[in-house]
Amino acid sequence: MYVVGGSASQSLSKELAKVLKAKLATVEIRRFPDDECYVRIDDNLDGEDVFLVQTTWPDGKIIELFLLQDAVREFEVSSLTTIVPYYGYARQDKQFKPGEPISARALARLIQVQTDEFFTVDVHAPNVIDWFDQVPARNIFAYPAIGRHLKTRGIQLVLSPDEGRAENAKRVADVVGCDSDFLVKERLDGETVEMAPKSLEVEGKKVAIVDDIISTGGTIAKAAEQLKKQGAAKIFAACTHGIFAKDGLAKLRGVCDEVCATDTIENPATCISVASEIAKAARD
Ligand code: R5P
Repeated sequence: MYVVGGSASQSLSKELAKVLKAKLATVEIRRFPDDECYVRIDDNLDGEDVFLVQTTWPDGKIIELFLLQDAVREFEVSSLTTIVPYYGYARQDKQFKPGEPISARALARLIQVQTDEFFTVDVHAPNVIDWFDQVPARNIFAYPAIGRHLKTRGIQLVLSPDEGRAENAKRVADVVGCDSDFLVKERLDGETVEMAPKSLEVEGKKVAIVDDIISTGGTIAKAAEQLKKQGAAKIFAACTHGIFAKDGLAKLRGVCDEVCATDTIENPATCISVASEIAKAARD
């Protein structure tokens, strides 16, 4: 059994190989002077079950994934499971305006051509999985890993930024062993919006705000400022996919006591691995 790691998912690939007791393939990945991508797998994968791990963000990582799939297929592998820990483009899962592509579907159609099975983690729009109609596909939840981490921090309340993500906050809270709630926004005047939990108080509590994606960090930063004013003792920001566009991480670190993200995207806030959750799915 082999894990092949793309350049977007190096530490997760290493961790996954450890948990699966698989070999980590030696892979060379580089760019030509004209920026075209070159990949080469140095191990012999004939007869092996192969797990190829590569997040499809930013764009350059997508072509690298296709080349790695093709390189794996050049061997006579026993099976190929393609794992996309963060599925870029999942937020364009429908036509918002005529003339637009359904970007998430475009990616699905291409990825499934060269694989026997597909896994992703906390995909933003769960209907993305349905576009994998040629191979078995699975969305793996990161909440057990996030919950285990927050438990070590003594979190007393888990909040989602809105009602739409309340179910995920509840799942995390169940792992931590604490309450959950979701934030509601109230517009006080043209310029002031207040955010507070729907039913529970934050005063004196260690609170975690959990979202699937942190992009600019704006949503959680605003919420954290408000919760501080309401007397929260400590505020933790946690997410599955930490994009942290622009100065997103610095902004959040300015208002939160801790910012943590999983290794679906590798960045300075990564402190939770989803390797065990992926390994569980791989063994099923
Ligand atoms: C939105 O649908 C997502 O679940 C996140 O709430 C969103 O991506 C957060 O964006 P930002 O970090 O830019 O506020």
